[in-house]
Amino acid sequence: MREGGVARRATMLKELRQDQGAVLVLDAGRVFNVMQSLNYRERSAANVGFMKAIGYDAVGLNVRDFAHGRDFVRDTFADAGIPLLACNLLDEQGDPFVEPYVIKEFDGTRVAIIGVFSKHDARIRLPAGGAFSMGKNYDRALEGLQVLDPIESVKKAVEQIGEEAAAIIVLSQLPADQNVELAEAIPSIDLILTDVSLKELIRKLQPPDPGETRDYLVIGTTYILEPVEVKDMRGKAVAIVEAAVTGSGLTDFSLERKRVAQTIAEDPDLKKRVADFVKGLNKNPLIQRERWRKFVNHSPEKDPDSAYLGAAACAKCHQPQFAQWQTTKHAKALQTLVDDEKDAVDRCVACHATGFGWRTGFDSAEKTPGLAGIQCETCHGPGKLHAASPKDALLIRSNVQKHHCTQCHNRGAVPPIADFNETYEEYRAKIVH
Ligand code: HEC
Ligand code: HEC
Ligand code: HEC
Ligand code: HEC
Repeated sequence: MREGGVARRATMLKELRQDQGAVLVLDAGRVFNVMQSLNYRERSAANVGFMKAIGYDAVGLNVRDFAHGRDFVRDTFADAGIPLLACNLLDEQGDPFVEPYVIKEFDGTRVAIIGVFSKHDARIRLPAGGAFSMGKNYDRALEGLQVLDPIESVKKAVEQIGEEAAAIIVLSQLPADQNVELAEAIPSIDLILTDVSLKELIRKLQPPDPGETRDYLVIGTTYILEPVEVKDMRGKAVAIVEAAVTGSGLTDFSLERKRVAQTIAEDPDLKKRVADFVKGLNKNPLIQRERWRKFVNHSPEKDPDSAYLGAAACAKCHQPQFAQWQTTKHAKALQTLVDDEKDAVDRCVACHATGFGWRTGFDSAEKTPGLAGIQCETCHGPGKLHAASPKDALLIRSNVQKHHCTQCHNRGAVPPIADFNETYEEYRAKIVH
């Protein structure tokens, strides 16, 4: 059993509620797993359901939560019934994309929670080690949405809230220094929960006494907290703030960061819900197929907006390459399995057809005859975006190299093959067009 997890967080929250009465549960944002697969997409959605079950009150909208598309993030939170907040993001019609703020009754006191959005963090690093920019994905997911000035937008929300709430909390996606500007511009904010490290700013602006540590800033009467989770800490720690709401700033402020340690018992109900979910997930045939996918860490495969078209579509603009390809064994690779009566065996199909396991890739000879065999898009990647904008060189893989071939020409191949290092040059010569 690992530490962390929603079932242990459930127990922690139950205990907190027993000790403290009302507890307001917030997440500044960045709750989805950005890995581009159905598996992680389903897990991300389920996690939001679990957050609802353990009583999250509101969540900020982070740019990385657009990784699975814009409808997905909005619908997932709407379905779960957790307010997703951003006061400075408008849709095409000029309406708020999600709720700007929410007011929660908390221990007899009304507290307003405002979300503020920023695009500054649209770069991610995959656990596999390969850093890449998801900027393009996010640009597409955010297309048509308008990001307004954060300080002006929070000001407007604060004015609208007026006397409705005795305290104001902001869930902020802003870069570190902009949180200080926000606190300076709007002194009535009590608490800002950020999504970025404040360490440098704290060292610069309010260095703690020697031997002491502090992970928050105080600007006027506004407390600015850095996020709970840094790197591998995701879901493995919580920050517990205790404070008295006076209507003009928080008093008796205390902050404790607590690890969701292994010693904390898992809540049996949540544990069962998680286990049932994972069982269902593993039975999902689409997710089973994902296991055999090739090119998982490559572009454009991992781009959620990409899709396979089939060689016939490429032929319209690349006739010479198509004609050459048709003469190769790759073009008949699925037929080889049909002849062997192995064309329904996922493991074989993964190496003998195009885009197997991907959402729009090969499924079966009946459903997707146009993706049979090792086609153009095996080596060059799914081509939908390229066919729509051929001049954008980033949308297709043009530099096809040996390590792309060894996705299949490797020791797992059936029947067993010779060392590909020795045959590579000869093999490459047979397929280039
Ligand atoms: C509508 C026409 C069109 C379609 C359809 C099309 N392409 Fe292209 N493709 C082009 C053009 C035009 C270029 C040259 C772009 C340039 O030189 O700027 C190109 C370039 C390429 C390149 C070389 C890129 C480079 O930078 O050297 C590859 C590889 C490629 N296409 C593969 C494909 C594949 C695979 C498909 C099918 C999924 C496909 N294309 C479909 C028009 C098309
Ligand atoms: C998605 C899997 C896959 C990838 C990627 C792949 N191949 Fe293949 N390749 C196959 C399969 C399967 C066959 C056997 C096809 C058949 O005969 O059924 C094959 C056959 C071949 C052959 C025919 C060998 C012969 O006996 O004539 C050559 C040449 C070849 N591949 C070269 C390459 C090169 C070079 C690359 C990389 C640029 C590459 N392949 C990438 C799966 C792949
Ligand atoms: C890891 C990828 C991979 C898997 C899995 C795989 N193959 Fe292949 N297969 C290849 C490659 C690559 C070749 C071409 C080898 C060469 O010619 O050097 C090939 C060639 C073949 C050939 C010979 C085609 C010919 O006439 O030259 C047959 C038959 C075949 N595969 C059947 C199967 C069956 C059946 C399965 C499932 C049990 C399977 N393959 C699983 C990669 C794979
Ligand atoms: C087995 C892998 C493989 C398959 C399948 C494949 N290509 Fe290529 N393609 C390559 C390689 C390798 C190059 C040469 C890249 C280089 O020069 O660096 C290339 C180059 C290209 C280019 C750039 C211009 C040129 O001819 O050098 C285009 C366009 C292209 N391929 C289109 C296609 C189309 C269309 C198909 C399907 C009909 C296809 N390719 C199938 C591996 C493949």
